[in-house]
Amino acid sequence: MSQTASIYADYAATTPCDPRVIATMMAVYEQGWGNPSSRQYPQGRRAADHLEHARGSLSTLLGCRDDELTFTSGATESCNMIIKGVASAHPQQQLIVARSEHPAVMAAARACEQAGIRVHWLTIDRHGLIDVDDLQEALKQPSSLVAVMMVNNQTGVTHDLADLAQRCHRAGTLLMSDITQALVRHSSLRLHEWGVDFAACSAHKCYGPQGCGAVYMRRGLGLPALIDGGGQERGRRSGTEAVAQIAGFGRAAQLQICEGRQRLERLQQLTHAFSHGLQDRAPWIQQFGHLSHRAPGIFLLGGPQAPQQWLRRLTRIACSPGSSCASGTHEPSHVLQAMGVPNNQALNAIRISLSHLTEDTEIEQLIELLAHSERPQTG
Ligand SMILES: Cc1ncc(COP(=O)(O)O)c(C=O)c1O
Repeated sequence: MSQTASIYADYAATTPCDPRVIATMMAVYEQGWGNPSSRQYPQGRRAADHLEHARGSLSTLLGCRDDELTFTSGATESCNMIIKGVASAHPQQQLIVARSEHPAVMAAARACEQAGIRVHWLTIDRHGLIDVDDLQEALKQPSSLVAVMMVNNQTGVTHDLADLAQRCHRAGTLLMSDITQALVRHSSLRLHEWGVDFAACSAHKCYGPQGCGAVYMRRGLGLPALIDGGGQERGRRSGTEAVAQIAGFGRAAQLQICEGRQRLERLQQLTHAFSHGLQDRAPWIQQFGHLSHRAPGIFLLGGPQAPQQWLRRLTRIACSPGSSCASGTHEPSHVLQAMGVPNNQALNAIRISLSHLTEDTEIEQLIELLAHSERPQTG
């Protein structure tokens, strides 16, 4: 089988750009390429219109208002902007950060820690959920921000943001959530109504382009800019906006609004088929993460072999050892470590992530390949 015949099962790492998104971006490159800050002439005004149209689509998808969104280069920048911004505005207060966060959040919090800001690293239970007692206890100390992601990128474990926002607000603390993986795995995001204060997301996880993301900041709140310059994005994020990518993000959001329900139903079907098929045909493969508090399409699987060995045999499956962002390093998954999984097991994890684009035959093949590659030696 040739390299190109591999089954793509790494949709949590990135999604292919929808052809309709590409068409939108091409049209902007051809006709809407002006500088959106130059509104004194038509080319600039056209570019500014593309920006505002995209902002409107994304705000509808996220359940917020247009003026609550700031475009960035991706979720990594968004997480840094929120965490470093809030921490620097309240240096005497601690940050509370779940131990299972994406490196974009963990590393930004660690940078704050190195700058002298206290960080309380929130305990995770063996299912991947935060320890609510630990959160309540931590909130007794003056705290500026709690960071808990909505859908974990390694395990798919989900957290209820409305409940978390209430707990934080009762203690006078703000809530941020990295919702990057939730964009295509939730049927109706309502950030404003849930009381979320800040959120970070990225276009390339929802069939949009790479290098484009957004910060949601609840109306009335402020954040110091991470990048200073010409004062674009209401002074919140300087630098000429990536108009074509942002228009692509807007188109991807619009498609998700229109097609999200069918996409999600299909993803749920595939998730069910994959999970049950694996249990039947390869019961020795462990599926990590809470059974019900889990978004569809993300599986962190454990077996008796090291992932390099496992993946070498699984050359037809394009997937990640543990987490895509940690690939290349052979560190055990920090999420599994936080869940108390021993290092020898954590080192053996691979992540399979599906999409509504995944075909039934691919699910069959995935199960077949995993079942045969991973069978423990007998005798
Ligand atoms: C949950 C989560 N947060 C943040 C990121 C970083 O996103 P970006 O690549 O847009 O910087 C990723 C990407 O892997 C992610 O899955």
